[in-house]
Amino acid sequence: MKIIMLGAPGAGKGTQAKMISEKYHLPHISTGDIFRANIKNGTELGKEAKGYMDKGLLVPDELTVRILLDRVAKEDCKNGYILDGFPRNIPQAEVLDKELTRLGDKIDIVIDMEVPDESIIKRMTGRRACTSCGATYHIVNVPPKKEGVCDKCGEELILRDDDREETVKKRLNIYHEQTQPLIKYYQKKGVLKTFDGTKDMMDVFTEITEILA
Ligand code: AP5
Ligand code: MG
Ligand code: ZN
Repeated sequence: MKIIMLGAPGAGKGTQAKMISEKYHLPHISTGDIFRANIKNGTELGKEAKGYMDKGLLVPDELTVRILLDRVAKEDCKNGYILDGFPRNIPQAEVLDKELTRLGDKIDIVIDMEVPDESIIKRMTGRRACTSCGATYHIVNVPPKKEGVCDKCGEELILRDDDREETVKKRLNIYHEQTQPLIKYYQKKGVLKTFDGTKDMMDVFTEITEILA
């Protein structure tokens, strides 16, 4: 099963992708997490990506597409995967389609999580993210058992550099301009399923599993 998580920054893509990944034993591939891991490890890729990410801009397609195609070619992706944060514009979606077609394959379902901009801004400033495994928490909604420490792997939790209010607003603008057109794109292919991402996260997850079952 090949799944795409679509939605604004902070819509809960990562939160749901993690749960889907555990239940269905599919790798969770987040381009944002890959970039953040590279930034943490001080790689060339990380240095290049950081400049764009901190400004709330998209990392250029050449770079992002190469990383994504390398990742999905790995052995653990044979039975499917969950893409979180990719594709983020029409050109990225077209590259992915072309590659899947070449392999005689296709995307099975696109999970679109709808959350209004006002709720997003409230969520982001409370978010804490694990720098190691990519798990996300919220200081009020989903607190970790021990403050500042990841429940899953014990690593440090951080407030992401791009979660400041001004940067979140910029990311939302880019979402509306570049990513939202993907809703129509996948609707036309008949694979889009829309979910109300303002609901309780376990309720959202239940609705998703009903569709995936
Ligand atoms: P990325 O890491 O993908 O960030 P994003 O898309 O902006 O999305 P987020 O990770 O911020 O939100 P999310 O939807 O995963 O929400 P979460 O589950 O954490 O990308 C970062 C940057 O990398 C981009 O800006 C860009 O620069 C670059 N990049 C990445 N991919 C790229 C690409 N393909 N092309 C170019 N550049 C790319 O939830 C948010 C918060 O809400 C959490 O605190 C969570 O606990 C809480 N929450 C979740 N669900 C609920 C709920 N139902 N109710 C209440 N609270 C909830
Ligand atoms: Mg995320
Ligand atoms: Zn962790």
